[in-house]
Amino acid sequence: MLTGKRILLIIGGGIAAYKSLDLIRRLKERGADVRVVMTEAAQRFVTPLAAGALSHGKVFAELFDREDEQDIGHIRLAREADLVLVAPATADLLAKMTHGLAGDLATAVLLATRAPILAAPAMNPAMWSHPTTVRNAVQLGADGVVFIGPNAGAMAERGEDGAGRMAEPVEIAEAVERLLGTSTPGPLAGRRVLVTSGPTHEPIDPVRYIANRSSGKQGHAIAAAAASAGAQVTLVSGPVGLPDPPGVAVRHVETAREMLAAVEAALPADAAIFAAAVADWRVAGEAAQKLKKDGTSVPPLALVENPDILSSVAHLSGNRRPRLVVGFAAETHNVIAHAQAKRARKGCDWIVANDVSMDGGAASGIPGGVMGADSNAVHLVTEAGVEHWPTGTKTEVARRLVARIAETLNAAEAAS
Ligand code: C5P
Repeated sequence: MLTGKRILLIIGGGIAAYKSLDLIRRLKERGADVRVVMTEAAQRFVTPLAAGALSHGKVFAELFDREDEQDIGHIRLAREADLVLVAPATADLLAKMTHGLAGDLATAVLLATRAPILAAPAMNPAMWSHPTTVRNAVQLGADGVVFIGPNAGAMAERGEDGAGRMAEPVEIAEAVERLLGTSTPGPLAGRRVLVTSGPTHEPIDPVRYIANRSSGKQGHAIAAAAASAGAQVTLVSGPVGLPDPPGVAVRHVETAREMLAAVEAALPADAAIFAAAVADWRVAGEAAQKLKKDGTSVPPLALVENPDILSSVAHLSGNRRPRLVVGFAAETHNVIAHAQAKRARKGCDWIVANDVSMDGGAASGIPGGVMGADSNAVHLVTEAGVEHWPTGTKTEVARRLVARIAETLNAAEAAS
């Protein structure tokens, strides 16, 4: 509940602004006192009249309006909020926030406030994944701004799909409750969850490395879903072009050996989910200096095996072993049989298997396969058998997996 909490909602100019009207209702039905600021662009998508009718108050829009400033100036708006919520947070607003631009009422309030800021980004996937926006989101995260979403899925632009949809109003309202400490505990409250994500980079020399096509989207989505479910999450991530998920402790690593060390340092955990695509091999004897082309011979690349992180954690004994160890299996053929064999060989409890062949991805309705895509079709292989999950976004797969993990941990605790 948000009884008596003062939320300042800043509505940015994007098509998702229509969902912010529902968001006002969701916040008010939880007892919040909602004040609304709209940018000029937002008013092209929804009217101040609608936002005012739903919030039961005046909607503020002008920095230089004498009446507005005499009524409640931007400094008072900034001070009289327990939380400032930016929804939708457009690429433009995020960029302005990053650089402290304060040329209109919304951005002036954002610079003046000392209340926590929660941003719900919404934009085209190409804009969200642009290096500039990624950099801005990382910087804002470091400055203390908390993000909810964006979710993956169909966009308003016809035929477009990807991460960029604003989180749903109920999700945003729940994130507000979490930030203000007024939420009911999530199903993973009090649990420690460890997640690995992304590829590893195995150096050949100081400038070259061996890598793979893992984007980290699935692993990052799992870490975010576990944090939303109330867990204390450590994410050990290889090099990815994604912002750190909100509310998650992130350890950035490059190589498999660094990943293993970071995983060991993060134990103990109640559940560990190994979604990283760890390189099986690294180059033996990495060159200390850049290898030079001499026109006569090519350097031989001898490979040695990397440690198997999943297997080593699954084979730990006593309290060091997480109660639930989950591995991933990306296979191009005989997906289920290979996943079952892998589960036994690695000693883990569950394997989440997916078909990464171009055909398999396409057969599941994901053109071009699942690598780097925003959707995933998986099968959950457990001791009890195999479950075929419907194709969903990586966010949906993550939520479902996290819900299953919570159920299993809670059932195991009840039984012990
Ligand atoms: O053996 P394979 O690489 O197919 O197994 C995939 C699973 O094992 C994934 O969960 C991956 O994160 C994990 N793994 C690991 N360390 C390795 C190789 C794979 O943790 N060196």
